Amino acid sequence: VAARFGAGPLAGRKVLLTAGPTREFLDPVRFISNPSTGKMGLALAQAARSLGAEVTVVLGPVGAVVRDGLTVVDVVSADDMAREVLARVESVDAFIATAAVSDWRPETRAPQKVKKGSSPGQESLRLVRTPDVLAEASRKVAGNAKRPVLVGFAAETEKVLEHAREKLERKGLDAIVANDVTAPGAGFGTDTNRVTVLTRTGVQRELNGSKNEVARAILELLLVRRP
Ligand code: CTP
Ligand code: CA
Repeated sequence: VAARFGAGPLAGRKVLLTAGPTREFLDPVRFISNPSTGKMGLALAQAARSLGAEVTVVLGPVGAVVRDGLTVVDVVSADDMAREVLARVESVDAFIATAAVSDWRPETRAPQKVKKGSSPGQESLRLVRTPDVLAEASRKVAGNAKRPVLVGFAAETEKVLEHAREKLERKGLDAIVANDVTAPGAGFGTDTNRVTVLTRTGVQRELNGSKNEVARAILELLLVRRP
């Protein structure tokens, strides 16, 4: 009931998130993607909502999920996600990028289904980089008088903290949530997570539990207490 009336420590604050994977089509029936289910991002969205925030999620294709109380903008590709985020990021108090954005897309998209008979059997695909949604959002708000708190996620399989710290700096973030996706009970599709939050100011905090518990703890740390 409290959440419905916008009460709570984040009442009156606007939070924008990205969540889920993106799909980069090479023809009308085939795409490049990844196993993200959007669970961590949607857990953060619901937690922000229950703390009183007004929440918008720019969401890649994840199938049926609970959207109650959230404004959801459905997108497919990294280009779509970048466009929708850049249109909104200057008017929010926090931007949290949890999406597993495809880093590459096919250079061209065939207008019709590519027939397997059209090639000798050994195909190669030319890929080009997609926009970095978080880095572009960070660049867009840099220097604004009212700049949102910028939070990234880092999905890593090795040298987790080192790579996460590098991303925090390279993308101009306030904090990054480092995620060892190979650790037991962490990563794609699980209901639990084990993460380390690093802030620009040097705070390092380990959190683990259900994705809902971890979501709540991340928001308490970064948006309510603000180290
Ligand atoms: N991100 C993004 N747009 C991209 C790639 C990443 O917004 N095209 C965001 C993710 O949502 C995440 C953060 O940047 O918050 C880090 O994503 P990650 O894939 O871990 O890092 P990359 O910079 O893509 O580097 P790499 O995949 O090579 O480790
Ligand atoms: Ca990436």
